[in-house]
Amino acid sequence: MKIIGISGSPKPGGNNDQLVEKMLGIAKDRGFEIDNILISDSEIAPCTACGVCGKGEKCPIDDDMQPVYDKLLDADGIVVSSPVYFGTMTAQLKALCDRSVLLRRQGFKLSNKVGAAMAIGGSRNGGQEKTIQSVHEWMHIHGMVVVGDGGHFGGILRKPAAEDDEGMKTAEDTINKMCDVLELMK
Ligand SMILES: Cc1cc2nc3c(=O)[nH]c(=O)nc-3n(C[C@H](O)[C@H](O)[C@H](O)COP(=O)(O)O)c2cc1C
Repeated sequence: MKIIGISGSPKPGGNNDQLVEKMLGIAKDRGFEIDNILISDSEIAPCTACGVCGKGEKCPIDDDMQPVYDKLLDADGIVVSSPVYFGTMTAQLKALCDRSVLLRRQGFKLSNKVGAAMAIGGSRNGGQEKTIQSVHEWMHIHGMVVVGDGGHFGGILRKPAAEDDEGMKTAEDTINKMCDVLELMK
């Protein structure tokens, strides 16, 4: 089974990229195949609501979204980590979420994949829970099976995330919960 990690930060090698790498390492140690999507590596334009995908056709926007569709389809679990920007996910990640409507319109292709979310803010209470909630909304609208950290909503961290031991524990609990649920679904 494969878990894909999405970092929603535009900053290469930043807190979210590092967190995704660490979480995928945990999944790999548990025997899962892993892959990632780094927003910082990708040019993904916002959806223009042209409606073409609703007619079963390919998205006409020529950018890096095509490999993202392929990676999302290939995954059994999708873990997303976003920076908090003004209390919610980054615009770059939202563009990816909106463009994924093609997969919903062409047969709910993400349905029953397991999803989990993490958020990193510059402040302790900077909107991490709301950011996670907005990622969960994306997952629910795709019909995914959403998991948290086993007690609350997911990974909630403050920058610098590598020094936030309490937050890191919520992230580790979240990826382990995803692995547990995927193992139950095998
Ligand atoms: C435009 C912008 C808006 C931000 N808004 C918030 C915010 O509302 N709450 C918060 O806690 N941190 C906020 N931050 C801080 C980022 O969440 C933080 O720098 C980010 O998680 C670091 O992750 P990265 O190193 O992966 O980019 C903001 C940063 C930027 C650039």
